[in-house]
Amino acid sequence: MADERSVTRGDGRPDSGLSRREISGERQAEDGGVDYALRPKSLDEMVGQERMREKMRILVQAARQRGEALDHVLLYGPPGLGKTTLSHILAHEMQGNLKPTSGPAIEKAGDLAAILTNLRSGDILFVDEIHRLGRVVEEILYPAMEDFVLDITVGSGPSARSIRLKLPRFTVIGATTRLALMTAPLRARFGVVERFDFYSRESLETIIMRGAAMLETPIDGAGATEIARRSRGTPRVALRLLRRVRDYAQVRGDGAITLALAQEALAVHEIDHLGLDDLDRRVVDAIVSKFSGGPVGLGTLAASISEEDDTIMDVVEPYLLQLGFLDRTPRGRVATKAAYEHIGAAYPESPGQRSLFEE
Ligand SMILES: Nc1ncnc2c1ncn2[C@@H]1O[C@H](COP(=O)(O)OP(=O)(O)O)[C@@H](O)[C@H]1O
Ligand SMILES: [Mg+2]
Repeated sequence: MADERSVTRGDGRPDSGLSRREISGERQAEDGGVDYALRPKSLDEMVGQERMREKMRILVQAARQRGEALDHVLLYGPPGLGKTTLSHILAHEMQGNLKPTSGPAIEKAGDLAAILTNLRSGDILFVDEIHRLGRVVEEILYPAMEDFVLDITVGSGPSARSIRLKLPRFTVIGATTRLALMTAPLRARFGVVERFDFYSRESLETIIMRGAAMLETPIDGAGATEIARRSRGTPRVALRLLRRVRDYAQVRGDGAITLALAQEALAVHEIDHLGLDDLDRRVVDAIVSKFSGGPVGLGTLAASISEEDDTIMDVVEPYLLQLGFLDRTPRGRVATKAAYEHIGAAYPESPGQRSLFEE
């Protein structure tokens, strides 16, 4: 049973939403305990990602039958798709304790040594944003993951010596939005590497219907479909939009979510019919109008609209690529015809007018 979850049992509300957000590295604030309460607790309760869930079922069952700890698992993909959720579920299914930490939280080798020496057999160490681990820390992790040993140096200068401690069998579950930033040796230590994909509209509808039921908010099929369409393939976004539409229904309607009400509410929040928000549109607009359609590097682009590189890379770009609004080229990102059309800009048909000419 995950430590963290046990805190929330009983009335189902965590005593501190803040510490959990810090732990899981989630940047955007969620609505208190609601988001947490909506988290699926088992592989069967999880919606979508069928193939991955099937692989996880086999992994868990095989390890349990052999009475072994789970192999190390690396989960990657854009934020809000269920990496943290799945880590908790795996711990739950293995009846192990989940110890959450994150790459940036482990600053020194000593921090990691302290965590490792406190692990018990079968514990699951969840390292969020694992691509942000420092090199020195990483090097401690290699032998710990591979041979379950910890090499520490005692003393200093000529009298310093290295001693090797045995660690219990434990499992590392790493999560990252940037697989490319992970070093090859660290990646190689994971027996299972799984990518999260954007969810289908049907899966998002199910997540929304279930969320509405938990929030005791009446919703019809058309209302759920409308929210799902604008959720950019992401459960976290789906649940966030659901909460905003629910607020609107309560204040401006009779509390129930219908198609018309969902459309009104999402218009107020400036979420367009594809789920693009103000930031997405500013990004597309900048590529088109400031950089003549591209190519432009992401860093330059982010700076041009005064946004953080990370937000553009993790949140904005994957969805625009998925929509076919952006193309990757060796020299940067290029806006496609679909992107021009979406923002109502004229697409320069002659390639000579575009800087992507040399392509
Ligand atoms: N497969 C899923 N089924 C139902 N809800 C999900 C699923 N994946 C994610 N969620 C919901 O979306 C929210 C965000 O998921 P999370 O695991 O925090 O994403 P990540 O760690 O990848 O950023 C969770 O609170 C959970 O309620
Ligand atoms: Mg997470």
